[in-house]
Amino acid sequence: MTKLIKNGTIVTASDQFYGDILIDDGIIVMIGADLDAQGAEVVDASGCYVFPGGIDPHTHLDMPFGGTVTKDDFESGTIAAAYGGTTTIIDFCLTSKGVPLKNAVDVWHAKSKGKAVIDYGFHLMVAEVNDDVLLELPRIIEEEGITSLKVFMAYKNVFQADDGTLFRTLQLAKEQGALVMVHAENGDVIAYLIEQALRNGQTDPIYHALTRPPELEGEATGRAAELTGLADSQLYVVHVTCAEAVRKIAEARERGLRVYGETCPQYLVLDQSCLEKPDFEGAKYVWSPPLREAWHQQVLWDALWNGQLQTVGSDQCSFDFKGQKELGQGDFSKIPNGGPTIEDRFSILYSEGVRQGRISLHKFVDIVSTASAKLFGLFPRKGTIAIGSDADLVIFDPHVVRTISASTHHMKVDYNAFEGMEVTGQPRSVLVRGEFVIRDNAFVGVPGSGQYLRRQRFNRPDRLPDKEKTIGGVF
Ligand code: URP
Ligand code: ZN
Ligand code: ZN
Repeated sequence: MTKLIKNGTIVTASDQFYGDILIDDGIIVMIGADLDAQGAEVVDASGCYVFPGGIDPHTHLDMPFGGTVTKDDFESGTIAAAYGGTTTIIDFCLTSKGVPLKNAVDVWHAKSKGKAVIDYGFHLMVAEVNDDVLLELPRIIEEEGITSLKVFMAYKNVFQADDGTLFRTLQLAKEQGALVMVHAENGDVIAYLIEQALRNGQTDPIYHALTRPPELEGEATGRAAELTGLADSQLYVVHVTCAEAVRKIAEARERGLRVYGETCPQYLVLDQSCLEKPDFEGAKYVWSPPLREAWHQQVLWDALWNGQLQTVGSDQCSFDFKGQKELGQGDFSKIPNGGPTIEDRFSILYSEGVRQGRISLHKFVDIVSTASAKLFGLFPRKGTIAIGSDADLVIFDPHVVRTISASTHHMKVDYNAFEGMEVTGQPRSVLVRGEFVIRDNAFVGVPGSGQYLRRQRFNRPDRLPDKEKTIGGVF
């Protein structure tokens, strides 16, 4: 089935032009002005931008955490993502010490199969490195196309790995062409500060932030960057929140190290004072690392603009306020960490970023889509609008003004951290591989239609250009 998207303003990370896009069999086959195609379904995009589909490199769907499980699974989470203009997610597959990695990957396939409405891949957590892992990991990278590995430097006695594990993972990643991701906070010192606070009767949500100061994020970020340099490997720091961490990433990059950084919408528009809301409402804003003092927001916007940070992931990790966040009443350390962000990432970045003059339109496309495609082995199949790329497209109306609210969002969770925020611009229609998932603001997708993505290794294209095949032959 062919489709012709007509009269949109097509915007990529590098170009902007007025024109039409012809889609055949899920692939972009032609881009030009005044295209005509016999028998094609014509979709009018007048007055709208046409962006490459958003790529969210950081989600936790159907994930057990803090004695409970995230509210949104691969069905509700990807439907909400699609409403928000995201056509690909990369979710974190959790592992446990002593359990074959393949078992963990199979669990994540079972969680997503038959449910996802957009395409998806997995990052793989590394909890330990031993002979079994050294044998199994290269096989997983090859067979599953999982080319990014996650090491937690915090969450002591839960997910936290030691520096030796991080270093050995970096060495293995260098050898295998994988990208190592870190949650960079000093988990040992945080564990002590939490114990001290609780001993002093400091149990309210705000103490979550006060026991995880920015110095401990900066310290862990710098340590991970140093180990990356020593291993001559590559590192991606997830959910960067503060000036201290940005500085360490910038310094490493100035030295020529392959160190990249991501921030999240919540750190760009919310601040630490949210944790002081009365009636335990502060628990809705408990993320790790925590929200920071408001002045850090400008540092993050600047870092995105000047390339010190490359991407914005949602870190979607939703828990209901009722019954889930409430687990931490009387003890902030028991509040499940995370929030619902998958749906509003794209709109917040456009509205607060482009409309407010903090980033350009092309930078917006880069941080919301293209840079993640490049870093995580999906480019140019995903992350751009080009002949041969998947027709993952967002027809975006830049004029619509709406107010974010739990009463209208599509996540299953019972609150929205951005409640009451007015945003300008909204995805009107969203296509994944040429099929509508959202059409004129209504969900028309099919659970299970999302495809699992085997990704290329870091900086190593799997295939050389093929002379005979040009359309769809990139892969
Ligand atoms: O608070 C957060 N960020 N929850 C999700 C898990 C993680 O650390 O990314
Ligand atoms: Zn984390
Ligand atoms: Zn996360």
